[in-house]
Amino acid sequence: MTLSIPHGGSLIDRTKTSLDVSTLSAEIELDSIAFSDLELIANGAYSPLTGFMNKKDYESVVTTMRLADGTVWSLPITLPITEETAESLRIGDQVKLTYNQTVYGVLYLKELFVPDKTLEAMHVFQTTDHDHPGVQRLFKRGDVYAAGPIHLIQQPARNDQWTHYYRSPKETRAEFSRRQWNSVVGFQTRNPVHRAHEYIQKCALESVDGLLLHPLVGDTKKDDIPAAIRMESYDVLLKHYYAKDRVYLSVFPAAMRYAGPREAVFHAIVRKNYGCTHFIVGRDHAGVGDYYGTYDAQQVFTQFPQAELGIHILPFEHSFYCKKCGSMASAKTCPHKKEHHLHLSGTKVREMLRSGVKPPPEFSRPEVIDVLMKGLRNT
Ligand code: ADX
Repeated sequence: MTLSIPHGGSLIDRTKTSLDVSTLSAEIELDSIAFSDLELIANGAYSPLTGFMNKKDYESVVTTMRLADGTVWSLPITLPITEETAESLRIGDQVKLTYNQTVYGVLYLKELFVPDKTLEAMHVFQTTDHDHPGVQRLFKRGDVYAAGPIHLIQQPARNDQWTHYYRSPKETRAEFSRRQWNSVVGFQTRNPVHRAHEYIQKCALESVDGLLLHPLVGDTKKDDIPAAIRMESYDVLLKHYYAKDRVYLSVFPAAMRYAGPREAVFHAIVRKNYGCTHFIVGRDHAGVGDYYGTYDAQQVFTQFPQAELGIHILPFEHSFYCKKCGSMASAKTCPHKKEHHLHLSGTKVREMLRSGVKPPPEFSRPEVIDVLMKGLRNT
């Protein structure tokens, strides 16, 4: 096996630091989601996208999970702006893309269109309920979508403590080659790594050369554990419990959409662009509340022929600690009754951590718990 071919055939690079924007007057101020999308389009993580979607691609993605040319793509990548900003723009403009008043990119404006957000929510999130964090954000963002190819002219400034974990797809691919990994399994997470995560990662690792631990560090909902605390917890976990030469920790700076099955397909394709040959999809991947069925995010992949997807999906059953087995297990491997299984919800664990109660070692490694308790005490 060799590293995966990028989605669409080649890795997109839309970085152009030499671009002079001093004469441009048209401007769009990005929100944090669009800002992270700009970076990820430019560095090839979203290959084959070269910009924010036009109406044809957008409508095709929303209704069929494919771009207009038929390429599998499950989430709209759009640039929502207000009607007022739209009125200040002309088709054909080169538009400065700013974030916190700093220019980071240019949009070659090809189209402005008004989306049907209810239809988008229905297809992408399977609900129009505004309590769903993805739906809520969709309706909060601008009502006009600006479309066209982009260039990134300046790398986003990073001043967080984990700056050294930002790696573009080109860089992760180079690192996998350096390590002579021919097969790499990608792991998406927006949480600290608990025993269930560790179990499925290590099961997968038994069959491939390496593991890309690829936590999402873009926008998440308020009650998720902040990325800064999670990064410290990954460091301590890898130090004590993982074989150094078999795991590579790097961050995925995208925003979380909470789109369940649709987001699982997106997460897999993007990890393929980072060089992964395999991708883990466990229980309720990218889910929130009770909006999706436990295995919906696995079943969605049956719609796509393997050759089109270009990455192997490794599905995992809901795993837990079984006191009778004395190990991690799942319904596939454990014959014991439910009362012997240890299940803790994310909400329950956060409550325990915040009130100073240590979750048991069967749920999470003690070193990880210490980092989380210390981190959450200070927030
Ligand atoms: S996610 O929103 O990033 O998917 P999370 O960080 O909880 O959430 O999950 C990361 C990955 O681990 C996902 O593929 C998810 O399906 C899987 N996963 C989480 N908990 C379990 C579990 N107990 N058993 C099996 N898979 C799990």
